[in-house]
Amino acid sequence: MASYDRNFTDELRARLSIVDVVGRRVPLVRKGQNYWGCCPFHNEKTPSFSVNEEKGFYHCFGCGEHGDIISFQMKTNNMEFRDALRELADMAGLKMPEYKPRDPRVVAAEESYLQITEKATALYQGKLFEPAGAAALEYVRGRGFTDEMIKKYRIGYAPKNNLIANTFSNMRQEKLIATGLCRRGDYGMYDFFRDKLMFPIFNARGQIVAFSGRSLDGSEPKYINTTDTEMFHKRATVFGLNFARDAIYRAGRSIVVEGQIDAIRMQCNGFGETVAPLGTALTEDHITLLCKSNRNITFCFDGDAAGQKAAARACAIVMPFLRDTSDVRFAFVTGGKDPDEVIKTGGADAMRKIINDAVGITDFLWDLANKNYITSTPGGRAGAEKFLSAEVAKIKDETLRREFENEYNSRKFNQWHKWKKSGNNAHSVDLPAADDITRATLCHIVNTFPELVERYGDFLATLNIDFDAPRPGMQMDEKTAERYIVSLKLQKYMTQLIAEKKECMTQMLAGADLGGRLAQINADIEKVREKQEMLVLI
Ligand code: UTP
Ligand code: MN
Repeated sequence: MASYDRNFTDELRARLSIVDVVGRRVPLVRKGQNYWGCCPFHNEKTPSFSVNEEKGFYHCFGCGEHGDIISFQMKTNNMEFRDALRELADMAGLKMPEYKPRDPRVVAAEESYLQITEKATALYQGKLFEPAGAAALEYVRGRGFTDEMIKKYRIGYAPKNNLIANTFSNMRQEKLIATGLCRRGDYGMYDFFRDKLMFPIFNARGQIVAFSGRSLDGSEPKYINTTDTEMFHKRATVFGLNFARDAIYRAGRSIVVEGQIDAIRMQCNGFGETVAPLGTALTEDHITLLCKSNRNITFCFDGDAAGQKAAARACAIVMPFLRDTSDVRFAFVTGGKDPDEVIKTGGADAMRKIINDAVGITDFLWDLANKNYITSTPGGRAGAEKFLSAEVAKIKDETLRREFENEYNSRKFNQWHKWKKSGNNAHSVDLPAADDITRATLCHIVNTFPELVERYGDFLATLNIDFDAPRPGMQMDEKTAERYIVSLKLQKYMTQLIAEKKECMTQMLAGADLGGRLAQINADIEKVREKQEMLVLI
């Protein structure tokens, strides 16, 4: 086992959520930090089997079974190690590598890689405080970085000459090139980063795997990052995660901002749980990485059109990661600022307000549908409905998916058709509340048959339908549902007519001349009765 490519098992653990893997066999419910279920390794009725997403292991307090995704797969399927890996690789969409001991040359290459990046960081750090780095130091201090921050994030300066190529001139060129720090040109090796303010990029283990360099003279692009290497994959790296780990755990959430300077500023002002992707739009890999800590993420975007678009993208990516306890929100920084500027001008409180005002994903998605489609038209509503369905369909947890469907069905009913529960509907008949069976049935009907809602909306709107009414295993076809509505409608109308008739007769007894009115009511009652007879129902 130890000789198996450790990178691959690490990769599997990084790609797969233990809650997903275990959840395929054991229904899990979240309580506090852990997920709980009935232990698959011994017989029990009350759950004592816990799964910790963050640490990636399960533990049974009843029988003491303990392990990770690999041992879970082996034990529950009676599998050999390699077969378990193969199954997990399938789940993760990864190709199984050849069975081979870890190549000592690969190990050595990684070591030399990390030694080079570490040494380069130290060199850059030194340069920032030398005369060559004076302008860079002035710049970074001008942006409000204290010496303490500069030290913590190991910010440095890459001078105009080929500092790294020269320092490592005795080293094999391939090793240097492998780090992305140097390239080979017509006249020998040259540095990729020159005259840049340097931000090392740490992996989750705190090793320096890449750099981001900011231009200091206003030249474009503003930032250049190490291009992907053996040890650095931009799509799967978030800036600041190594520093944010503990804070994410304590805060029970992560915050994702757009820029790395924003992440640093946030981390230093009470939002230690903040990270940023690296000059790319958010990817599934970023979310996988963040979800390894917990599934509560607050995204923070610019309030402008680009920010809105990025938020919509993030939302689409995050849907499959939702669990019933996930708390995913979207915050927007308005006024053309970014979090760095907000904190600089308004302090941490201004930022806290923005984060506190974040919109939950249920509302965000709903608002998105309503913004992108004209829901006052049938076509617009159809478009919005398809959009919502497609997004909701991405949710893996079945119960949660159904709850999202219910939620949006009820919103469609209440908001698109502009009916208010206690509205000022002119036709509103003040009827007694329907009994529980009626309520549950109606709830089922309006959630299941949008066409009926279109057709009988005015009537349904008078009924104070309770969308949360329980409707266990209810089944009804559309025809029956329609009969039910019509029958109910007739019933209500009849009640109303009878009340009117009583009132009419009382007034006649008191001398009012209402003979014509009474005849009309009697005729109506007769009509309703006929219709009721035609409906062979309930
Ligand atoms: P922004 O343009 O919002 O920059 O890019 P910023 O973070 O506010 O930078 P400062 O405050 O002017 O220094 C957001 C992020 O996009 C990536 C960087 O990671 C940046 O933090 N980016 C931006 C690039 O990779 N390249 C660029 O040319 C620009
Ligand atoms: Mn900025």
